[in-house]
Amino acid sequence: MVQVAVLGYGTVGSGVVEVIGKNNGIVSRNAGQELNVKYILDLRDFPEDPYGDRVIHDFDTILNDSEVSIVCEVMGGVGAAYQFTKAALEKGKSVCTSNKELVAKHGPELLQIAKANHCSYLFEASVGGGIPIIRPLNDCLTAEKIENITGILNGTTNYILTKMEREGADFDTVLKEAQEKGYAERNPEADVEGHDACRKIAILSSLMTGKNVDSEKIYTEGITKITADDFLYAKAAGRTIKLLAKSDAVGEDEVLTMVAPFMVDKEHPLAMVNDVFNAVFVRGNMLGDSMYYGRGAGKLPTASAVVGDVVECARNLGRHIPCRWEAQDAKLADVADIEDAYYVRVKAEKKSEAQAAFAGGRLLEIPDRDKDFAVLTTPMKEKEFAAKCQTLGDAVLSRIRLY
Ligand code: HSE
Repeated sequence: MVQVAVLGYGTVGSGVVEVIGKNNGIVSRNAGQELNVKYILDLRDFPEDPYGDRVIHDFDTILNDSEVSIVCEVMGGVGAAYQFTKAALEKGKSVCTSNKELVAKHGPELLQIAKANHCSYLFEASVGGGIPIIRPLNDCLTAEKIENITGILNGTTNYILTKMEREGADFDTVLKEAQEKGYAERNPEADVEGHDACRKIAILSSLMTGKNVDSEKIYTEGITKITADDFLYAKAAGRTIKLLAKSDAVGEDEVLTMVAPFMVDKEHPLAMVNDVFNAVFVRGNMLGDSMYYGRGAGKLPTASAVVGDVVECARNLGRHIPCRWEAQDAKLADVADIEDAYYVRVKAEKKSEAQAAFAGGRLLEIPDRDKDFAVLTTPMKEKEFAAKCQTLGDAVLSRIRLY
Protein backbone atom coordinates (compact mmCIF):
# COMPACT_ATOMS: atom_id res chain seq x y z
CA MET A 1 0.00 0.00 0.00
CA VAL A 2 1.21 3.52 -0.81
CA GLN A 3 0.53 6.02 1.95
CA VAL A 4 -0.25 9.58 0.95
CA ALA A 5 -0.40 12.79 3.00
CA VAL A 6 -2.39 15.82 1.88
CA LEU A 7 -1.22 19.28 2.98
CA GLY A 8 -4.21 21.64 3.10
CA TYR A 9 -7.84 20.57 3.31
CA GLY A 10 -9.30 23.41 1.26
CA THR A 11 -10.99 23.16 -2.12
CA VAL A 12 -8.24 21.25 -3.93
CA GLY A 13 -7.16 19.23 -0.86
CA SER A 14 -10.66 17.94 -0.23
CA GLY A 15 -10.88 17.19 -3.96
CA VAL A 16 -7.68 15.12 -3.79
CA VAL A 17 -9.09 13.08 -0.90
CA GLU A 18 -12.37 12.67 -2.78
CA VAL A 19 -10.70 11.51 -6.01
CA ILE A 20 -8.49 8.99 -4.19
CA GLY A 21 -11.55 7.78 -2.25
CA LYS A 22 -14.15 7.62 -5.03
CA ASN A 23 -11.80 6.36 -7.75
CA ASN A 24 -9.77 4.18 -5.42
CA GLY A 25 -10.08 1.04 -7.53
CA ILE A 26 -8.97 2.87 -10.66
CA VAL A 27 -6.12 4.89 -9.14
CA SER A 28 -4.83 1.88 -7.19
CA ARG A 29 -4.93 -0.31 -10.28
CA ASN A 30 -3.13 2.35 -12.29
CA ALA A 31 -0.58 2.87 -9.53
CA GLY A 32 0.06 -0.85 -9.24
CA GLN A 33 -0.75 -0.88 -5.52
CA GLU A 34 -3.43 0.51 -3.28
CA LEU A 35 -3.31 4.24 -2.53
CA ASN A 36 -4.44 5.43 0.87
CA VAL A 37 -4.70 8.91 2.40
CA LYS A 38 -3.08 8.48 5.80
CA TYR A 39 -2.91 12.12 6.91
CA ILE A 40 -4.53 15.43 6.09
CA LEU A 41 -2.66 18.44 7.44
CA ASP A 42 -4.71 21.53 8.22
CA LEU A 43 -4.94 24.17 10.96
CA ARG A 44 -8.63 23.39 11.39
CA ASP A 45 -10.49 20.31 12.63
CA PHE A 46 -13.22 18.64 10.58
CA PRO A 47 -15.17 16.55 13.10
CA GLU A 48 -18.13 15.97 10.74
CA ASP A 49 -16.00 15.00 7.77
CA PRO A 50 -15.73 11.29 6.86
CA TYR A 51 -11.95 11.77 6.73
CA GLY A 52 -11.92 13.93 9.88
CA ASP A 53 -10.01 11.28 11.86
CA ARG A 54 -7.03 11.66 9.50
CA VAL A 55 -6.69 15.40 10.10
CA ILE A 56 -3.52 16.38 11.95
CA HIS A 57 -1.93 19.73 12.77
CA ASP A 58 1.74 18.89 12.99
CA PHE A 59 3.72 18.48 9.77
CA ASP A 60 6.48 16.58 11.61
CA THR A 61 4.12 13.63 12.03
CA ILE A 62 4.09 13.29 8.25
CA LEU A 63 7.78 13.99 7.87
CA ASN A 64 8.76 11.38 10.44
CA ASP A 65 6.40 8.67 9.25
CA SER A 66 8.46 6.48 6.97
CA GLU A 67 5.28 4.86 5.62
CA VAL A 68 4.32 8.12 3.87
CA SER A 69 6.01 8.15 0.49
CA ILE A 70 3.93 10.77 -1.37
CA VAL A 71 2.85 14.22 -0.19
CA CYS A 72 0.26 16.39 -1.98
CA GLU A 73 1.01 20.06 -1.35
CA VAL A 74 -2.25 21.85 -2.09
CA MET A 75 -2.07 24.56 0.55
CA GLY A 76 -0.78 27.35 -1.72
CA GLY A 77 1.56 30.24 -1.02
CA VAL A 78 5.34 30.26 -0.87
CA GLY A 79 5.90 30.26 2.90
CA ALA A 80 5.03 27.08 4.80
CA ALA A 81 4.34 25.31 1.49
CA TYR A 82 7.97 25.88 0.47
CA GLN A 83 9.38 24.71 3.82
CA PHE A 84 7.18 21.59 3.90
CA THR A 85 7.90 20.69 0.28
CA LYS A 86 11.63 21.05 0.76
CA ALA A 87 11.60 19.02 3.97
CA ALA A 88 9.50 16.24 2.41
CA LEU A 89 11.76 16.00 -0.66
CA GLU A 90 14.87 15.96 1.52
CA LYS A 91 13.36 12.95 3.28
CA GLY A 92 12.87 11.22 -0.09
CA LYS A 93 9.10 11.71 -0.15
CA SER A 94 7.74 12.71 -3.57
CA VAL A 95 5.62 15.86 -3.71
CA CYS A 96 2.71 16.53 -6.07
CA THR A 97 1.36 20.06 -6.19
CA SER A 98 -1.13 22.49 -7.70
CA ASN A 99 0.80 25.45 -6.27
CA LYS A 100 1.80 27.49 -9.34
CA GLU A 101 3.24 30.31 -7.26
CA LEU A 102 5.68 27.97 -5.55
CA VAL A 103 6.53 26.06 -8.73
CA ALA A 104 7.17 29.32 -10.63
CA LYS A 105 9.33 30.70 -7.83
CA HIS A 106 11.31 27.66 -6.66
CA GLY A 107 10.77 25.03 -9.36
CA PRO A 108 14.43 24.40 -10.33
CA GLU A 109 15.60 24.23 -6.71
CA LEU A 110 12.85 21.80 -5.66
CA LEU A 111 13.45 19.63 -8.72
CA GLN A 112 17.13 19.50 -7.87
CA ILE A 113 16.38 18.46 -4.28
CA ALA A 114 14.00 15.77 -5.56
CA LYS A 115 16.69 14.46 -7.90
CA ALA A 116 19.30 14.35 -5.15
CA ASN A 117 16.93 12.39 -2.92
CA HIS A 118 15.65 9.90 -5.53
CA CYS A 119 12.09 11.15 -5.40
CA SER A 120 9.96 13.41 -7.62
CA TYR A 121 8.42 16.86 -7.69
CA LEU A 122 5.41 16.85 -10.02
CA PHE A 123 3.18 19.82 -10.78
CA GLU A 124 0.69 18.91 -13.51
CA ALA A 125 -2.13 20.76 -11.69
CA SER A 126 -0.18 24.02 -11.45
CA VAL A 127 -1.01 25.02 -15.05
CA GLY A 128 -4.35 24.52 -16.74
CA GLY A 129 -5.95 22.75 -13.74
CA GLY A 130 -7.14 19.37 -15.01
CA ILE A 131 -5.75 19.78 -18.55
CA PRO A 132 -2.74 17.56 -19.22
CA ILE A 133 -0.04 19.98 -20.38
CA ILE A 134 3.02 19.53 -18.14
CA ARG A 135 3.43 15.84 -18.92
CA PRO A 136 2.85 16.31 -22.68
CA LEU A 137 5.60 18.96 -22.68
CA ASN A 138 7.93 17.02 -20.42
CA ASP A 139 7.38 13.50 -21.73
CA CYS A 140 5.57 13.46 -25.06
CA LEU A 141 6.89 16.42 -27.05
CA THR A 142 10.53 15.63 -26.33
CA ALA A 143 11.34 15.17 -30.03
CA GLU A 144 10.17 18.70 -30.78
CA LYS A 145 11.74 22.09 -30.83
CA ILE A 146 8.84 23.97 -29.30
CA GLU A 147 8.45 27.19 -31.30
CA ASN A 148 5.48 28.67 -29.54
CA ILE A 149 3.16 28.17 -26.61
CA THR A 150 0.06 30.34 -26.36
CA GLY A 151 -2.46 29.78 -23.62
CA ILE A 152 -5.67 30.99 -22.14
CA LEU A 153 -4.47 30.13 -18.67
CA ASN A 154 -6.83 31.97 -16.37
CA GLY A 155 -10.44 30.93 -16.02
CA THR A 156 -11.63 34.01 -14.14
CA THR A 157 -10.54 36.47 -16.81
CA ASN A 158 -11.78 34.22 -19.60
CA TYR A 159 -15.18 34.09 -17.91
CA ILE A 160 -15.24 37.89 -17.57
CA LEU A 161 -14.20 38.50 -21.19
CA THR A 162 -16.72 35.93 -22.48
CA LYS A 163 -19.52 37.68 -20.53
CA MET A 164 -18.41 41.09 -21.75
CA GLU A 165 -18.54 39.85 -25.32
CA ARG A 166 -21.91 38.13 -25.02
CA GLU A 167 -23.71 40.78 -22.98
CA GLY A 168 -22.01 43.96 -24.16
CA ALA A 169 -21.37 44.68 -20.49
CA ASP A 170 -18.44 46.61 -19.07
CA PHE A 171 -15.60 45.13 -17.03
CA ASP A 172 -16.66 46.40 -13.58
CA THR A 173 -20.23 45.13 -13.90
CA VAL A 174 -19.14 41.65 -14.98
CA LEU A 175 -16.42 41.42 -12.32
CA LYS A 176 -18.93 42.35 -9.60
CA GLU A 177 -21.37 39.73 -10.83
CA ALA A 178 -18.62 37.10 -11.03
CA GLN A 179 -17.60 37.90 -7.45
CA GLU A 180 -21.20 37.62 -6.24
CA LYS A 181 -21.48 34.19 -7.85
CA GLY A 182 -18.15 33.09 -6.35
CA TYR A 183 -16.46 32.73 -9.77
CA ALA A 184 -14.01 35.54 -9.02
CA GLU A 185 -12.04 36.07 -5.82
CA ARG A 186 -12.94 38.92 -3.44
CA ASN A 187 -9.45 40.19 -4.21
CA PRO A 188 -9.29 39.56 -7.96
CA GLU A 189 -5.98 41.33 -8.58
CA ALA A 190 -3.87 38.24 -9.29
CA ASP A 191 -6.36 37.16 -11.95
CA VAL A 192 -7.43 40.44 -13.61
CA GLU A 193 -3.95 41.98 -13.61
CA GLY A 194 -2.54 38.88 -15.31
CA HIS A 195 -0.22 37.73 -12.47
CA ASP A 196 -1.79 34.25 -12.25
CA ALA A 197 -1.43 33.69 -16.02
CA CYS A 198 2.11 35.08 -15.78
CA ARG A 199 3.18 32.43 -13.24
CA LYS A 200 1.65 29.71 -15.40
CA ILE A 201 3.37 30.83 -18.61
CA ALA A 202 6.63 31.14 -16.64
CA ILE A 203 6.31 27.43 -15.81
CA LEU A 204 5.44 26.44 -19.39
CA SER A 205 8.21 28.63 -20.83
CA SER A 206 10.73 27.08 -18.46
CA LEU A 207 9.74 23.63 -19.69
CA MET A 208 9.86 24.90 -23.28
CA THR A 209 13.40 26.25 -22.93
CA GLY A 210 14.73 23.91 -20.24
CA LYS A 211 15.99 27.03 -18.47
CA ASN A 212 14.42 29.22 -15.82
CA VAL A 213 11.96 31.87 -17.01
CA ASP A 214 11.53 34.23 -14.08
CA SER A 215 7.87 35.23 -13.75
CA GLU A 216 8.90 38.61 -12.34
CA LYS A 217 10.65 39.50 -15.60
CA ILE A 218 7.70 38.69 -17.85
CA TYR A 219 5.92 41.62 -19.49
CA THR A 220 2.38 41.43 -18.06
CA GLU A 221 -0.80 43.40 -18.79
CA GLY A 222 -4.21 42.53 -17.36
CA ILE A 223 -7.73 43.07 -18.66
CA THR A 224 -8.91 45.97 -16.49
CA LYS A 225 -8.69 48.51 -19.33
CA ILE A 226 -10.81 46.49 -21.77
CA THR A 227 -14.17 48.13 -22.42
CA ALA A 228 -17.52 47.23 -23.93
CA ASP A 229 -16.58 49.60 -26.80
CA ASP A 230 -13.51 47.49 -27.58
CA PHE A 231 -15.73 44.44 -27.92
CA LEU A 232 -17.96 46.35 -30.36
CA TYR A 233 -14.97 46.98 -32.58
CA ALA A 234 -13.68 43.44 -32.11
CA LYS A 235 -16.99 42.15 -33.42
CA ALA A 236 -16.85 44.52 -36.38
CA ALA A 237 -13.38 43.15 -37.16
CA GLY A 238 -14.44 39.49 -36.89
CA ARG A 239 -12.43 39.09 -33.70
CA THR A 240 -12.82 38.64 -29.97
CA ILE A 241 -10.64 39.65 -27.01
CA LYS A 242 -8.73 37.08 -24.93
CA LEU A 243 -6.07 37.32 -22.25
CA LEU A 244 -3.22 35.35 -23.80
CA ALA A 245 -0.07 34.16 -22.13
CA LYS A 246 2.47 33.39 -24.80
CA SER A 247 6.01 32.38 -25.34
CA ASP A 248 7.83 32.42 -28.67
CA ALA A 249 11.24 30.98 -29.38
CA VAL A 250 13.32 33.81 -30.87
CA GLY A 251 16.48 32.86 -32.74
CA GLU A 252 18.57 30.06 -31.28
CA ASP A 253 18.36 30.70 -27.58
CA GLU A 254 15.99 33.55 -26.73
CA VAL A 255 12.36 33.44 -25.73
CA LEU A 256 9.78 36.18 -25.90
CA THR A 257 7.25 35.71 -23.13
CA MET A 258 4.34 37.97 -22.35
CA VAL A 259 0.85 38.15 -20.90
CA ALA A 260 -1.58 40.64 -22.41
CA PRO A 261 -5.07 40.95 -23.88
CA PHE A 262 -5.11 40.21 -27.60
CA MET A 263 -7.77 40.72 -30.27
CA VAL A 264 -7.97 37.19 -31.62
CA ASP A 265 -9.29 36.26 -35.04
CA LYS A 266 -12.63 34.47 -34.60
CA GLU A 267 -11.36 31.61 -36.78
CA HIS A 268 -8.48 30.81 -34.43
CA PRO A 269 -9.20 27.84 -32.11
CA LEU A 270 -8.31 29.95 -29.05
CA ALA A 271 -11.17 32.34 -29.93
CA MET A 272 -13.59 29.46 -29.30
CA VAL A 273 -12.36 28.84 -25.75
CA ASN A 274 -15.02 30.43 -23.60
CA ASP A 275 -16.24 30.84 -20.01
CA VAL A 276 -13.94 29.35 -17.37
CA PHE A 277 -12.28 26.97 -19.82
CA ASN A 278 -8.55 27.10 -20.46
CA ALA A 279 -6.56 26.00 -23.49
CA VAL A 280 -2.92 25.74 -24.41
CA PHE A 281 -1.82 25.93 -28.02
CA VAL A 282 1.62 24.43 -28.69
CA ARG A 283 3.57 24.60 -31.92
CA GLY A 284 6.46 22.18 -32.44
CA ASN A 285 8.78 22.23 -35.46
CA MET A 286 7.89 18.64 -36.42
CA LEU A 287 4.37 18.17 -35.06
CA GLY A 288 3.04 21.56 -36.05
CA ASP A 289 0.08 22.81 -34.03
CA SER A 290 -1.57 20.97 -31.15
CA MET A 291 -4.06 22.22 -28.58
CA TYR A 292 -4.93 21.07 -25.05
CA TYR A 293 -8.34 22.17 -23.78
CA GLY A 294 -10.41 21.69 -20.67
CA ARG A 295 -11.21 22.86 -17.17
CA GLY A 296 -8.39 25.02 -15.92
CA ALA A 297 -9.64 25.33 -12.36
CA GLY A 298 -12.14 23.88 -9.91
CA LYS A 299 -12.01 21.29 -7.18
CA LEU A 300 -12.24 17.97 -9.00
CA PRO A 301 -10.47 18.84 -12.28
CA THR A 302 -7.48 20.22 -10.38
CA ALA A 303 -7.54 17.37 -7.85
CA SER A 304 -7.65 14.85 -10.70
CA ALA A 305 -4.38 16.26 -12.06
CA VAL A 306 -2.77 16.11 -8.59
CA VAL A 307 -3.87 12.50 -8.15
CA GLY A 308 -2.63 11.64 -11.66
CA ASP A 309 0.77 12.82 -10.44
CA VAL A 310 0.40 10.73 -7.28
CA VAL A 311 -0.18 7.65 -9.46
CA GLU A 312 2.92 8.52 -11.50
CA CYS A 313 4.99 8.85 -8.31
CA ALA A 314 3.60 5.56 -6.98
CA ARG A 315 4.72 3.87 -10.21
CA ASN A 316 8.21 5.29 -9.70
CA LEU A 317 8.86 4.94 -5.98
CA GLY A 318 12.55 5.29 -5.13
CA ARG A 319 13.25 6.79 -8.55
CA HIS A 320 13.42 10.40 -9.67
CA ILE A 321 11.09 11.34 -12.56
CA PRO A 322 13.25 13.74 -14.59
CA CYS A 323 12.17 17.19 -15.66
CA ARG A 324 14.42 19.45 -17.72
CA TRP A 325 14.25 22.83 -15.94
CA GLU A 326 17.66 24.19 -15.07
CA ALA A 327 18.28 26.98 -12.57
CA GLN A 328 20.13 29.04 -15.20
CA ASP A 329 18.01 31.96 -16.44
CA ALA A 330 16.62 31.80 -19.96
CA LYS A 331 17.40 34.78 -22.19
CA LEU A 332 14.25 36.88 -22.51
CA ALA A 333 13.73 38.98 -25.64
CA ASP A 334 12.64 42.60 -25.12
CA VAL A 335 8.97 43.19 -25.92
CA ALA A 336 9.84 46.66 -27.27
CA ASP A 337 11.79 45.04 -30.12
CA ILE A 338 9.12 42.66 -31.38
CA GLU A 339 6.71 43.30 -34.22
CA ASP A 340 2.99 43.28 -33.60
CA ALA A 341 -0.08 44.56 -35.39
CA TYR A 342 -2.54 46.51 -33.27
CA TYR A 343 -6.11 47.53 -32.89
CA VAL A 344 -6.07 51.17 -31.87
CA ARG A 345 -9.25 53.12 -31.05
CA VAL A 346 -9.00 56.86 -31.49
CA LYS A 347 -11.25 59.90 -30.87
CA ALA A 348 -13.02 60.96 -34.06
CA GLU A 349 -11.47 64.44 -34.12
CA LYS A 350 -8.02 62.94 -34.77
CA LYS A 351 -9.08 60.83 -37.74
CA SER A 352 -6.80 62.31 -40.38
CA GLU A 353 -3.76 62.32 -38.05
CA ALA A 354 -4.41 58.71 -37.00
CA GLN A 355 -4.88 57.56 -40.59
CA ALA A 356 -1.62 59.24 -41.53
CA ALA A 357 0.20 57.70 -38.57
CA PHE A 358 -1.14 54.22 -39.29
CA ALA A 359 -1.12 54.41 -43.09
CA GLY A 360 -1.79 51.02 -44.67
CA GLY A 361 -3.91 49.89 -41.72
CA ARG A 362 -7.54 48.81 -41.96
CA LEU A 363 -10.05 51.48 -40.91
CA LEU A 364 -12.93 50.27 -38.75
CA GLU A 365 -16.02 52.40 -38.33
CA ILE A 366 -19.28 51.51 -36.66
CA PRO A 367 -22.43 52.94 -38.30
CA ASP A 368 -24.17 55.75 -36.35
CA ARG A 369 -21.21 56.12 -34.05
CA ASP A 370 -19.32 59.37 -34.42
CA LYS A 371 -17.26 59.70 -31.25
CA ASP A 372 -14.48 57.32 -32.25
CA PHE A 373 -13.14 54.92 -34.88
CA ALA A 374 -10.46 52.27 -34.92
CA VAL A 375 -7.54 51.13 -37.07
CA LEU A 376 -6.11 47.64 -37.34
CA THR A 377 -2.51 48.52 -38.04
CA THR A 378 0.11 46.81 -40.15
CA PRO A 379 2.79 45.01 -38.11
CA MET A 380 5.39 47.30 -36.56
CA LYS A 381 7.82 47.29 -33.68
CA GLU A 382 6.26 47.91 -30.27
CA LYS A 383 8.41 51.00 -29.76
CA GLU A 384 7.41 52.39 -33.18
CA PHE A 385 3.74 51.87 -32.30
CA ALA A 386 4.22 53.57 -28.93
CA ALA A 387 5.86 56.56 -30.62
CA LYS A 388 2.97 56.89 -33.09
CA CYS A 389 0.44 56.75 -30.26
CA GLN A 390 2.37 59.43 -28.43
CA THR A 391 1.90 61.83 -31.35
CA LEU A 392 -1.88 61.34 -31.00
CA GLY A 393 -1.78 61.98 -27.23
CA ASP A 394 -4.99 61.44 -25.30
CA ALA A 395 -6.96 60.92 -28.52
CA VAL A 396 -5.87 57.26 -28.27
CA LEU A 397 -8.66 55.59 -26.29
CA SER A 398 -7.40 52.01 -26.31
CA ARG A 399 -4.89 49.70 -27.94
CA ILE A 400 -4.83 45.92 -28.08
CA ARG A 401 -2.41 43.67 -29.93
CA LEU A 402 -3.80 41.49 -32.73
CA TYR A 403 -3.46 37.72 -32.76
N1 HSE B 1 -7.72 31.84 -10.27
C1 HSE B 1 -7.35 30.82 -11.17
C2 HSE B 1 -8.18 30.95 -12.45
C3 HSE B 1 -7.53 29.47 -10.56
O1 HSE B 1 -9.13 31.74 -12.47
O2 HSE B 1 -7.87 30.33 -13.45
C4 HSE B 1 -6.80 28.36 -11.22
O3 HSE B 1 -5.41 28.52 -11.21
